[in-house]
Amino acid sequence: MLILMDIKLLSGALGAEISGINLKDSSLENWNIINNLLLEHKALFFRDQDISSEEQINLAKRFGPLERHIYVKGRDKYPEILRIIKEPDEKRQWGETWHTDVSYNPKPTKVIILRSLKIPPVGGDTMFSNMEIAYETLDDKIKDKIDNKKAIHSSLGAAAFTEDYKAMEGNGNLDEYSNAHPMVRTHPETGKKILYVNSMYTKKILDLEKNESEDILNEIFRHQERLDFTCRFKWTENAVAIWDNRSTLHQGLTDFFPGRGLGHERVMDRIAIEGDHPQ
Ligand code: SIN
Repeated sequence: MLILMDIKLLSGALGAEISGINLKDSSLENWNIINNLLLEHKALFFRDQDISSEEQINLAKRFGPLERHIYVKGRDKYPEILRIIKEPDEKRQWGETWHTDVSYNPKPTKVIILRSLKIPPVGGDTMFSNMEIAYETLDDKIKDKIDNKKAIHSSLGAAAFTEDYKAMEGNGNLDEYSNAHPMVRTHPETGKKILYVNSMYTKKILDLEKNESEDILNEIFRHQERLDFTCRFKWTENAVAIWDNRSTLHQGLTDFFPGRGLGHERVMDRIAIEGDHPQ
């Protein structure tokens, strides 16, 4: 099959907007093209994709088994789809500072597929950051300190977070989860090294004193959140973002201010695909 595809890079660091691919098509052939693009660009964006929930699920299943969120209730009819809702009068939204999804799990999410249903006229873009570049450009002295270290990722505070968002419903689980992961992991498909910590969930470096751990983590957080490692996607309705949760950080921007984005709803459907034990 001949596919006429256009690839527009979003920044020098990562991210590509793809046209000419229909996400209704979850054939192995179409998925192979998407997955190869994903491994290269880490975050892919597709506009005008009027796909159904079933079609979003079918595409997601090509990447692997689907993951239910540990704290947030899925949709009644499609429990594997988590609906992210910002009500018109809310100034905050889910996923609002730099993070890697559920890195406190033993096997954090592999890939996310996020589809936009309602988008404010302005505000609520999503940003992504490339953790392969963050590792490559890390100071050698810090690399030496962390290359064989693990850090604790914890969901402390995350269990009750649905209370902060009016229309997001918890699933009743309030347990806290912590897991230690290598600070530098190897991507299971590309073999590239990835800086694997994030300021939302990474709490402490194992085998280091509290102060030393804090100093190193703060220095790494400042480094990995540099704007030159990022790209920014401006949503339109019926757009789809697919990102590699292993090699990126992301955040939904909460720039909802009076006379601009405030007063408008933002609604997204999110599907997560199960990952593996970071190595
Ligand atoms: C997320 O953090 O998974 C959601 C990001 C967004 O809604 O832009």
